Amino acid sequence: AGGSVTLTCSVNPSPDKPVLTVSPSWLSPGASVTLNCEVEHPSAGWRFYWYKTVPDLSHNSYIYELLPGNSSGTEQDSYIVHGQTHTAGYVCRAGRGDPVFYTDNSEPKFVWSGDLHPAASLTVNPDRVQHFYSDSVSLSCEGNSAEWRVKRFNEHGYQSDCSDWRRMTGSTCNMRLYWYGNAVYWCESGSGEFSNAVNITVQSDYYYDIILVSPVHPVTEGESVSLGCRFRTEEKLSSVFFYHNDKLIQNDTRQELNISAVSKSDEGFYKCQWSGRKSAQSWMSVKVLCCPRSAFKFILIIISLLLLFLTFHLVVINIPH
Ligand SMILES: *[C@@H]1O[C@H](CO)[C@@H](O)[C@H](O)[C@H]1NC(C)=O
Ligand SMILES: *[C@@H]1O[C@H](CO)[C@@H](O)[C@H](O)[C@H]1NC(C)=O
Ligand SMILES: *[C@@H]1O[C@H](CO)[C@@H](O)[C@H](O)[C@H]1NC(C)=O
Ligand SMILES: *[C@@H]1O[C@H](CO)[C@@H](O)[C@H](O)[C@H]1NC(C)=O
Repeated sequence: AGGSVTLTCSVNPSPDKPVLTVSPSWLSPGASVTLNCEVEHPSAGWRFYWYKTVPDLSHNSYIYELLPGNSSGTEQDSYIVHGQTHTAGYVCRAGRGDPVFYTDNSEPKFVWSGDLHPAASLTVNPDRVQHFYSDSVSLSCEGNSAEWRVKRFNEHGYQSDCSDWRRMTGSTCNMRLYWYGNAVYWCESGSGEFSNAVNITVQSDYYYDIILVSPVHPVTEGESVSLGCRFRTEEKLSSVFFYHNDKLIQNDTRQELNISAVSKSDEGFYKCQWSGRKSAQSWMSVKVLCCPRSAFKFILIIISLLLLFLTFHLVVINIPH
């Protein structure tokens, strides 16, 4: 008799797994990070527990460390992290009752920083945001560790790991063929560090035959930057038009868009156009230098006031009685 077997694959998350949201997704200097933990049946009595993830390469997972605060959790379903400067991952869970019934841990969620730092950094070769599907792209991790893994978070919210495809050679991930679409990539080290994160777009050669050549890492204010446009056959194109946030900003015979001293207002989405074809758009991030003029002025005022006070004091003390 011909029996049949039905296999059902369900993608519903476990019913008692809370959903963590982290905002913003990309760190900006001085801003705090808000974590929200959502349980399926919100009601009074839940307490929320907040953890930071530490990469654990030997178990291909994370270690969870309790974030500062009350170790018996918080009543609020949100938590604010202050002073975060590098890429970080978080997890939450909820608990209630006596003895406490705990939910599963949420999936880890991340806040990303584009700034390179020496303990862990990710570089991309070729060094640009957009690539053709047929290109061979490598992602290299460098810093205080001999062991690395490259993580990816795609536009649909799926996380994966370069080693899932066995494409990791030493500290380099060779992305050829396996990585498609828009995604954020970063490195995690054997010593528990997160690197800077980068946006990478791998284009279908079918939909786009030109790509924008733009920097993967944030450009520092005051530096120069050059954006270009590339045809699939790698020719350098001339008479390329450039758009910034959908506004045409250069339309002549030049090959590149050169900005000699970048400012914060140059940040945004860029795309190029050549002979009627348009590339996809990509974000160029501008890193503002530390210590804006206003902070410097503020310090000057404080010093002047102090000097004034001291002089006044000396004069008063020295007045003969
Ligand atoms: C932690 O929270 C519990 C329950 O709200 C409370 O009884 C306890 O005093 C808190 N501990 C600290 C150190 O705030
Ligand atoms: C990645 O892209 C997002 C917008 O899609 C942007 O906010 C973020 O700053 C980009 N990161 C870097 C490092 O360019
Ligand atoms: C460039 O743009 C200007 C203003 O939109 C327009 O007058 C001019 O014809 C354009 N030049 C070319 C080469 O398309
Ligand atoms: C842009 O800058 C590059 C060097 O970064 C230079 O080689 C090129 O000639 C410049 N292009 C234009 C159009 O100014």
